[in-house]
Amino acid sequence: MSEVDEVKQKIDIVEVIGQHVKLTKSGRNFRALCPFHSEKAPSFYVFPERQSWHCFGACNTGGDVFSFIMKQQGIDFGEALRLLAEQTGVTLPSRVRLDARKDERERLHQVNEAAATYFHDQLLSSPDAAKARDYLLRRGFTADTVAAFQLGYGPDRWEALKQHLAERGYSESELVDAGLVVETDAGSATGGNTRDRFRNRLMFPIHDARGRTTGFGARVLDDSLPKYTNSPQTLVFDKSGTLYALHLAAPAIRKQDRAILVEGYMDVITAHQNDFRNVIASMGTAITERQVTTLKRLTRNITLALDADAAGKEAMLRCVDYENTLDAEVRVMLLPGGRDPDDVIREDPDVWKDLIENAVPVVDYALDMTTAGLDLSTARDQARVIREFLPILARMKDIVRRDHYIRKLEIRTGTRYNVIEAALKDHMTASRPGKAARKSVQVATAPLLSRPIEEECLSLLLQHPELKDNSEEFLPDYFQNSQNREIFIAWQQSADLESLKEILDPSIWEQVDTLVSRSLVSGRLEQKHSRLVLRLKKEHLREVKTLEAAALEEAMTGGTDIDVTQLSQEGIETNIQLQEVFQQEARANRSARDESGRVP
Ligand code: UTP
Ligand code: MN
Repeated sequence: MSEVDEVKQKIDIVEVIGQHVKLTKSGRNFRALCPFHSEKAPSFYVFPERQSWHCFGACNTGGDVFSFIMKQQGIDFGEALRLLAEQTGVTLPSRVRLDARKDERERLHQVNEAAATYFHDQLLSSPDAAKARDYLLRRGFTADTVAAFQLGYGPDRWEALKQHLAERGYSESELVDAGLVVETDAGSATGGNTRDRFRNRLMFPIHDARGRTTGFGARVLDDSLPKYTNSPQTLVFDKSGTLYALHLAAPAIRKQDRAILVEGYMDVITAHQNDFRNVIASMGTAITERQVTTLKRLTRNITLALDADAAGKEAMLRCVDYENTLDAEVRVMLLPGGRDPDDVIREDPDVWKDLIENAVPVVDYALDMTTAGLDLSTARDQARVIREFLPILARMKDIVRRDHYIRKLEIRTGTRYNVIEAALKDHMTASRPGKAARKSVQVATAPLLSRPIEEECLSLLLQHPELKDNSEEFLPDYFQNSQNREIFIAWQQSADLESLKEILDPSIWEQVDTLVSRSLVSGRLEQKHSRLVLRLKKEHLREVKTLEAAALEEAMTGGTDIDVTQLSQEGIETNIQLQEVFQQEARANRSARDESGRVP
């Protein structure tokens, strides 16, 4: 459970609001003169069962305990959370520590930047770097390329960088935190207790999507091993979330609406030098969900350059997950016989071009791999192909694509469609035990803590920043849960995930990460979006209506001091709005039916 949820669970809204407002019991609920506007008859209600509040008077707004405190004290979500956490004894990471962390990150970006400049200057002008310059020349890199990628040279000395950066005011511990120096045993041959990490190496600065230097790759100048040393994991450098050269490739990726993913630094650099500028690298490891999520902000179309021998089944399965995330096909291009993109492009850029053009959808490739070497005239091999292919089909969320591949499989193996479908059904039930158990746990904590529709909507928005363009009539008010509302507001205001997080209180980051990595059912995006917004609006209005009805009932039976007329008027307006939503929904359903009617 997140800290936010923990606070919510421990707190009673009546108690909290009761500290600030004089509440009178009114049936199952409480009411008071609204603290947010001046009034004579109380139109402010607190609903213990829903743990929410609502003002039916001039404010005509409401929310949960956090939004009350935020409004009442004029503070932001993080401050309200801290206040309530203190009251409930929940320990949160301290604000000071989190702010310090931000400064620390900033400082690490700076020190990495300073190191990159130093290495680059060394490469360009130090006599010691002659062999590095020769090496680059031999590999055919031009001066422009060296400058664009800010390539560098780490001198063959123990403390060259360390001294240089010390003179510029960086402390030893900052250098350690940035991974630029390593600690050695005191009294060792080197004399000091730290020394440069990258010595006598060709340096490749690594940047985040915003172009800030986060770390380095470093290559030896000969055939010795290990070939590359990378920065260790630091506060700003995480291999699994980084894509090499993304900041340089972003404009081309956007323009061509496709990213080509390779493995190595050298591959990227050679590609760019030959004007293939939408190429990036995955840092030598298999591509990760985080990298895919990052890329999705630029394009949904990804082509993987794969070594024909290395593309295993596991990798294919993961690719299907990425396809679900991207809501698009991932393609693969197969590199001839153990060569990497760098070799291929330098030999003949046209061959590389052909390979890109002949890239195939990853699932087609997986099918080819599965059937390779089998005798599909035998029942045994037919069954084997289907068995091996089922996990891929099962992972596919898009039913149209699934249907497409079942048909392909039918043709390829001669096994009838409905037989494959039945096998798939079996496979899916068999491989999903304990689902019912999980669900019942969720329901038990659901009413207060999570609002599935809000979260589904946010997942969609976070994963599809382009939806911002048609989200104008989408109001923060639709979110009952303050945390979700905060995320929505931040999403409206920010260009990317990183800046979104910077707006948000760190206590909500976990929720953002969960929402971003949640896989969504694929389908028509715009349509899904407008439907979700309508549903959210509908649920919001229904909630308001329920609260209005409760308030009205009490107004009628209770005293005379409540403005029954005003409440009924509001009830009518809510009904009208709700009617509108119903009509919009009906229209949307009709047009969806019309459209699907055209497809056989
Ligand atoms: P490669 O061995 O294919 O290197 O590793 P390369 O990029 O083609 O380099 P050259 O052409 O031999 O000079 C691919 C990627 O895997 C990571 C690096 O990111 C490298 O670019 N790698 C490789 C490491 O991190 N450490 C290693 O020891 C080797
Ligand atoms: Mn290579």
